[in-house]
Amino acid sequence: MSRYPDVYKSWQSNPEAFWAEAAKAVDWFKPADRVFDASQGAYGRWFAGATCNAAHNCLDRHVAAGRGQQPAIIYDSPVTGTKRALTYAELLDEVEIFAAGLASLGVSKGDRVVIYMPMVPEVAIAMLATARLGAIHSVVFGGFAANELAVRLNDAKPKVIVSASCGVEPKAIIKYKPLLDSAIAMAAHKPEHCIILQRPMERAALIDGRDLDWSALVDDMRAQGAKAACVPVAATDPLYILYTSGSTGQPKGVVRDTGGYMVALMWTMKNLYGVEPGEVFWSASDVGWVVGHSYIIYGPLLHGNTTIIYEGKPVGTPDAGAFWRVLSEYKVASFFTAPTALRAIKKEDPTGSLISNYDLSHLRTLFLAGERADPDTVTWAEHALGIPVIDHWWQTETGWAITGNPIGLGALPVKPGSSTVPMPGYDIHILSDEGHPVPQRTLGNIVVKLPLPPGCLPALWNADERFGPSYTDEFPGFYKTADAGFRNEDGYLFIMGRTDDIINVAGHRLSTGAMEEVLASHKDVAECAVIGAADALKGELPMGFVVLKAGVTREHADIEREIVALVRERIGPVAAFKTVRVVARLPKTRSGKVLRGTMKKIADGIEYQVPPTIDDPAILAEIETVLSNRPVVG
Ligand code: COA
Ligand code: AMP
Repeated sequence: MSRYPDVYKSWQSNPEAFWAEAAKAVDWFKPADRVFDASQGAYGRWFAGATCNAAHNCLDRHVAAGRGQQPAIIYDSPVTGTKRALTYAELLDEVEIFAAGLASLGVSKGDRVVIYMPMVPEVAIAMLATARLGAIHSVVFGGFAANELAVRLNDAKPKVIVSASCGVEPKAIIKYKPLLDSAIAMAAHKPEHCIILQRPMERAALIDGRDLDWSALVDDMRAQGAKAACVPVAATDPLYILYTSGSTGQPKGVVRDTGGYMVALMWTMKNLYGVEPGEVFWSASDVGWVVGHSYIIYGPLLHGNTTIIYEGKPVGTPDAGAFWRVLSEYKVASFFTAPTALRAIKKEDPTGSLISNYDLSHLRTLFLAGERADPDTVTWAEHALGIPVIDHWWQTETGWAITGNPIGLGALPVKPGSSTVPMPGYDIHILSDEGHPVPQRTLGNIVVKLPLPPGCLPALWNADERFGPSYTDEFPGFYKTADAGFRNEDGYLFIMGRTDDIINVAGHRLSTGAMEEVLASHKDVAECAVIGAADALKGELPMGFVVLKAGVTREHADIEREIVALVRERIGPVAAFKTVRVVARLPKTRSGKVLRGTMKKIADGIEYQVPPTIDDPAILAEIETVLSNRPVVG
């Protein structure tokens, strides 16, 4: 029997007592005056009056408690042929010294540090060193283009940027430094310094006076015997800003506070993921995403687990057995990945034959998130691995799972297609567009009754005016997840898709609105639309439609190629934007709204009804013809 119903009820009956109990797992410099202060912030703030430090909780206290010799981080990089382990004591030492380096450049409490790095241990060192100083990190995913980095620099206004000479993708060395330099050239805000980790496969040219070599800085600090102590911050102070796609080219800076986040993550490590301190926990994501922040870095380290920084792919590094190798080599107890990674493996090794080459006896559970876990993939993984495969649903904004199957409390039955039940802290309602509750098994807007639990975003960075319109104005008293779904008679949640223009490409959250801004900027484009077309591997792939300006007579294929290149240049390779079609007209309602939903159904080959509000139904037939005449993926 799962303890979940009792635990959820205990949270419902007294949320503050529930989180006060959970907060005992954290080392506070000063305890909270109030567990929840409803008078602060957009909907209240957790652990008001408390002071703490995230790096202290991830490192110092574990070393003090005798965990110093346990590996904190295992770095496994099949793309560079490197493996390295850092114990908690070694990681603490590196973080204290790098933090001293940051401090020597003037970084102090509240300053921002942007981190633009590949999956190397130094990314964790940079994050924790920033946290140690009470400064705020903002990690930018390496697959974003210079322009996206520039937008984030302008918003976060970092004093220092920490980067590397390159990232290593299976097919290419990605030179980060030219991207960084062009982002800084584009941005109105200029950082005072950049610290560059020079990797052996690519040495970047450093700019005198601005750029510092990571190793030289660290050597210098060591020679001086400089080490930085933990700076106490308020529990409500930001630990990081993580930018995520909004519905325009201006991403949202999701703010994560320090105290509530630690409390929530520690609760999940034990109760949701079911791991004990000392065990190995692996999240095969990237530190540039929220999953990487919460479950490569902070969650496992707060809980005293060993975490893995994996610089590789599920397939091709070297084969579809890559994940199984890592799981067996490091005796991973709990594994977290995106369904798309499993689909990539399944495509290359449909029977999972490579699994039998490895001893996976330590692996108890596989967790999936980042996109809808399709039942086929869940069932395939269950059969192939013979362990529970748990879908759980969350967002950058929440920082941890909204719904899931709490393995640590005793597993609930798995129902493929469902991400199971709400975690304590989340009171979920499903509402019609008019704000009324919908019956069971009826699709509606999934909303969370305010206040959000600890760990969830209290604010958007520098953009208080965007919080209400983005999250709380449409359904007063609730947080709008912008996901649609339904609940069944057992209270299980089924997450079916977004209600806004966000699409999910290989587990990556992308805004079609932002892509449309890029398409519209092409000199020959009069108007455009981007949709997410279904894709068997990546879940969705963006597909663009453009109407050309009158009088443009150039070859359509040339224009299409330019547009694909433009999206790669402005947003980055991660957008996986490879298909765009020139069309004569876009289907619209009589009030001029582009019928993206209907276009998506056409692209996906799903039967569709002609919307009664359509201006000219003949345009839908034109779109069908354009899509049927040419390959869908270019
Ligand atoms: N730095 C630079 N470029 C990057 C990058 C990084 N960190 N990550 C990805 N890219 C590039 C890729 O090289 C690729 O470039 P290309 O167009 O030149 O081939 C492009 O961005 C698209 O990458 P991706 O979507 O990852 O596709 P892929 O074909 O390389 O790999 C999968 C497909 C399914 C194996 C891969 O997407 C995957 O592992 N996904 C899991 C996602 C995940 O864990 N998400 C986190 C949420 S939990
Ligand atoms: P991100 O903010 O990048 O984590 O993306 C969050 C979005 O990804 C959610 O709003 C969902 O649309 C989607 N998502 C994440 N996890 C799941 C899941 N388990 N099932 C369905 N959709 C998911």
